[in-house]
Amino acid sequence: MNMIIKRSLLLILAILITAFIVGCSSESSKTDNQANDTTKLIANEEKPYIGFVLDTLKDERWYKDKELFEGKVTELGGHVKTLAANGSDDIQITQAELLIEEGVDVLVVVPTNADTASSIVEIAHENGVKVISYDRLILNADVDHYISFDNEKVGEMQASAIIAQRTEGNFAYIGGAETDNNAVLLRQGTMRILQPLIDEGKINLVYDNYTDGWNPDVAEENMKAALQDNGNQIDAVIAANDGTAGGVINALATKNLDGDVPVSGQDAELNAIKRIIDGTQTMTVYKSINLLAENAAEIAIQFANEESIATDQTIPNGKIDVPATLLEPIAVTKDNIEETIIKDGYLTTEEIYGK
Ligand code: BGC
Repeated sequence: MNMIIKRSLLLILAILITAFIVGCSSESSKTDNQANDTTKLIANEEKPYIGFVLDTLKDERWYKDKELFEGKVTELGGHVKTLAANGSDDIQITQAELLIEEGVDVLVVVPTNADTASSIVEIAHENGVKVISYDRLILNADVDHYISFDNEKVGEMQASAIIAQRTEGNFAYIGGAETDNNAVLLRQGTMRILQPLIDEGKINLVYDNYTDGWNPDVAEENMKAALQDNGNQIDAVIAANDGTAGGVINALATKNLDGDVPVSGQDAELNAIKRIIDGTQTMTVYKSINLLAENAAEIAIQFANEESIATDQTIPNGKIDVPATLLEPIAVTKDNIEETIIKDGYLTTEEIYGK
């Protein structure tokens, strides 16, 4: 398709998505015209105006990120608009451009694609807008701040919990999206734990693939292929998050292997916690979205007020050492659901047990 036509179509799509998201946000009672008027007012006001650009709202956690981030920015006296790109990096770039045109002071970005998102940083900086890389690192760009969890540690936790169940046999690795730097870090963390056992000949890594777009259906198909290729002899699965774990467990269920094969996850999604209680998923990794969203909101407001951010950590992104805030993940099994996610109010006893 001709590039100009493609760009125009994307712009129209992004505007439609913008209208949809605004419609879903706290300003849902306003008409589109009222929403546009509000935007003009916001851009002209003295209040900090923050743009939050998400890859997707498909995985449960991102709703929490959206709600908590918006809540904290508002509490700190700022305005925020959130847009989600439905997994398209082209749409995400167009949405970032729209927000910059609207006059945001700071962009907080969960990049769909770690590489192509570098153009968002370039355009933002040309317009005097600072960029915070949220949860996922934008590569090869002058990112102003990166806030996330220690993703290699998440990968180590996943592998450690699985080898606590099985120290030998046929292992499958069902990764995240390769375009997401987190997926690469998770795999690195996992391999740090698995490699010595692979070298000793105890573990045979019979399947090792990323999952396009972190899509649970793709993970399910990949797991079915892994089972098929190995005569159903898969002894353990390291799945990169709860969405992909769900797909893996569906595939195992078709062979009556769910519950027999340890499976990891990440995100402490409600369904994953239920599977952990039922015994079909071994573990998940709880990352306090509260801490992440609130810290990110504070940093965004500080940037908007032209204050500097104190940090003693940096993470290289291929271009610079990005000033970073890295939070601690927590491994969750059947044994510590109560003192982690329930205690923190991340999920309630009622949601989990229905009482
Ligand atoms: C996040 C995970 C999430 C995944 C898919 C990753 O970058 O760190 O928490 O499950 O994206 O949305």
